Amino acid sequence: MTLDAVLARIDADLPQATGRLLELLRIPSISTDPAFKDHCQIAAHWLVADLQSLGVPAEKRETPGHPMVVGHVEGDGPHLLFYGHYDVQPVDPLELWDRDPFDPQIEDTAKGPVIRGRGSSDDKGQLMTFVEACRAWKAEHGTLPCRITFFFEGEEESGSPSLVPFMEENAAELKSDLALICDTGMFESRVPSIVTMLRGLLGEELTITAPDKDLHSGMYGGVAMNPIRVLSKVLASLHDDAGRITVPGFYDGVPELPDDIRSQWQGLAFDHGTFLGDVGLSAPAGETDRTPIEMIWSRPTCDVNGIWGGHTGDGFKTVLPSKAHAKVSFRLVGDQDPLKIRQSFRQMVRDALPPDCEVEFKDHGAGQASVTETTDPAFEAARTALSNEWGIPAAYVGCGGSIPIAGHFQDILGTTPMLVGFGKDDDQIHSPNEKYDMESFHKGIRSWARILDALT
Ligand code: BES
Ligand code: ZN
Repeated sequence: MTLDAVLARIDADLPQATGRLLELLRIPSISTDPAFKDHCQIAAHWLVADLQSLGVPAEKRETPGHPMVVGHVEGDGPHLLFYGHYDVQPVDPLELWDRDPFDPQIEDTAKGPVIRGRGSSDDKGQLMTFVEACRAWKAEHGTLPCRITFFFEGEEESGSPSLVPFMEENAAELKSDLALICDTGMFESRVPSIVTMLRGLLGEELTITAPDKDLHSGMYGGVAMNPIRVLSKVLASLHDDAGRITVPGFYDGVPELPDDIRSQWQGLAFDHGTFLGDVGLSAPAGETDRTPIEMIWSRPTCDVNGIWGGHTGDGFKTVLPSKAHAKVSFRLVGDQDPLKIRQSFRQMVRDALPPDCEVEFKDHGAGQASVTETTDPAFEAARTALSNEWGIPAAYVGCGGSIPIAGHFQDILGTTPMLVGFGKDDDQIHSPNEKYDMESFHKGIRSWARILDALT
């Protein structure tokens, strides 16, 4: 039986495959919001049943948080593991969605049909590309091509708190020859890509308290310290005028880009005008001496992700608040040590506090950056398979986002991760109106069939 038969089966079954994805998308498995805990269970259960329907013995495995889904099929040849996450981001602000985020639909757009709904691109649609490739393979061949472990997580969007203990406890079961991860995008929305560099992530929340109760700003303003003033000053001081981050020791472990990678990236012809233009911007805001692609793939960042305090509702209230809050994240590269940076950041904030102010910190997770070696011949085999499917040479690229598990496969299991994804820059992941192109879904399934064929 040839690969062509599997590809033809994928083409013929696309409507059914889309129907299955829509079912999964209807389950609001928001991992960060405790109100959706039961729905995370339902999504895990749905995946168990879906794997079982293609003959994979699979089960839901409980953790202190949301369950993992694990299934194994035996076979000859390499042991491949496939990872994806079934949890999704919250949908707020709901009023900016053009439709119910959990009532997904196929929509025709100027750029072709898209599957619109929360999780369509990040990551349910991507996860299902692999499952559907296996379904078509099984239908044509009667078995899967090799030994495969399916490993789905339900906490990726909330920092994967149960993942490391689960991987450590089940290391023998999960250790494999190669870990395939489908949770990334394509370069410039068109070039099939294997991601070899992911940034790490450090999350911090801080609350500054000044007076011990909210005050009338007419009675106390000018004399009593306002914690929002303190917080704003600290946050504003995190970057200097050249766009560099001022946390002491922050750049320790940040490598200079090797010349060969720099010239490879220059060859990719990244159009930063379009990249920024598509989101209503024109001027890069990072370090003034770096190119935009370097900023995203190989430089660390600091972003304030949320800031609140005082009266933020409708109307006006002349309050001098007791507390001010912010959430801050750092994207990390190279050997930057998240724990050292956390300590240094906290010390910097404490040192900036005027008398009578206090600060409390809440830890929102920390993970190092990861870089994958592409020396295993499986990488070139996968790259050729992707190039054949898309008709464009596939590229090794960086990624500004963070996928904590990629580093854990390496550190805990000694298994090399291979990151192949079909998301596009305009998928609006984590935002209102998230979509996944039908082309990504269809050619994504076909790409995995070709990769499986090339690796086995
Ligand atoms: N799929 C994304 C990672 C990603 C982002 C890939 C952008 C390609 C482009 C993943 O689900 C994600 O959102 N990760 C989080 C990290 C997590 C610890 C909350 C991220 O990068 O913010
Ligand atoms: Zn995400």
